[in-house]
Amino acid sequence: MTTQVDHLTTPLDADTIRADFPILAQTNDRGQPLTFLDSAASSQKPTAVIDALADYYLRYNANIHRGVYQLSELATGRYEQARHLVADFIGAASARECIFVRNTTEAINLVAQTWGRRHIAAGDLIVLTVMEHHSNLVPWQLLAEEKGAKLAHVRITPDGRLDLDHLDELLRREPKLVAFPHVSNSLGTLNDAADITRRAHAAGATVLIDAAQSVPHLPVDVKTLDCDFLAFSGHKMLGPMGAGVLYGKKKLLDAMPPYMGGGSMIRKVELDHSTWADVPAKFEAGTPAVADAIGLGVAIEYLTTLGMDRVHAHERDLTTYALGRLAEIPGLTIHGPTDPAHRGGVVSFTLGDIHPHDVAAILDGENVAVRAGHHCTQPLMRALDLLATTRASFYLYTTEPDVDRLIAALHHANAVFDL
Ligand SMILES: Cc1ncc(COP(=O)(O)O)c(C=O)c1O
Repeated sequence: MTTQVDHLTTPLDADTIRADFPILAQTNDRGQPLTFLDSAASSQKPTAVIDALADYYLRYNANIHRGVYQLSELATGRYEQARHLVADFIGAASARECIFVRNTTEAINLVAQTWGRRHIAAGDLIVLTVMEHHSNLVPWQLLAEEKGAKLAHVRITPDGRLDLDHLDELLRREPKLVAFPHVSNSLGTLNDAADITRRAHAAGATVLIDAAQSVPHLPVDVKTLDCDFLAFSGHKMLGPMGAGVLYGKKKLLDAMPPYMGGGSMIRKVELDHSTWADVPAKFEAGTPAVADAIGLGVAIEYLTTLGMDRVHAHERDLTTYALGRLAEIPGLTIHGPTDPAHRGGVVSFTLGDIHPHDVAAILDGENVAVRAGHHCTQPLMRALDLLATTRASFYLYTTEPDVDRLIAALHHANAVFDL
């Protein structure tokens, strides 16, 4: 892992990478290898990350920021080092712009309840998209209801891309906020986040990007995107569950009121009022998930060593291969963009009239783990006139033989249902 590689010319070697993920080496009781195709929900973790968690609990478990003894200082140092790793990874101007939260959901709720409560008033417009994960819908619905604000949603084209003419139409109504997913977790659509942000800023809107499905999979630079807020989850990018990140431009974060009150987020506390610590502490009330943040830092080091450009290229090649092979299956419909250039490593499909849950259950019988359902995107499913889809999602450890086993299992599903 320490060897320097030419990131532009040397493809990822997923077979070698798999040695770092012992969980992938298991078989079921029929001796079939595990084919894990649900990384969009949560990725597997390399031993480096698991070891980092054990190392923390075995060697320097202590609460941070308050202790004047060595264990606490070591834990504090590692926690803050992880914050710097996060900042470098996404190109933030300063580590202070990166707030540790539990996950994408908490990051978006934080913005809605602090920036949103302060800046959104009755009659104001919030623009979202039809392809939103519930995490980027419900927090804004709660805010809109409280404030009497309006919501509007950018439509999608028949091939599952954002209708940018509709976006422009909505921007003419001068929304206060535009929030959208960088990559759709249901359709795999890769949105041009820099272009959408530019258009939204030109209309005077603040921009939040739900990067839950992009930061783990492709190079993301907040300075290039120029977004105001960006949210992502560590558990989808080789990190432990429990640590996610809200990035915000420092000027915005400084002006925002706190989210939760309690220890660590204060400067001075009187009996009837308090003043706040500077960011990021202002938004990190109580004891944080120290080990998980440290583990996320190790995951970021792992990804950085491999090179995010290579991770992205690997997934694009694999998605191209999967789209080609899925087209062989009688009765199978792929949902979302057909051009791999407009996709991340997520492929949603339906198989004839077979319910997606039945498809997933038959695949599970072949030890192929996929997800079935609405993928927390009920409005998107309705817009596509679907109840649910089956979804296969890929990561740096996914190989062509994984895709081949998915294809074989889908042929088997067709045989079971006599299609
Ligand atoms: C696009 C997108 N946004 C938000 C989320 C929510 O992530 P979490 O459950 O980690 O908060 C997900 C999770 O699948 C997602 O795919």
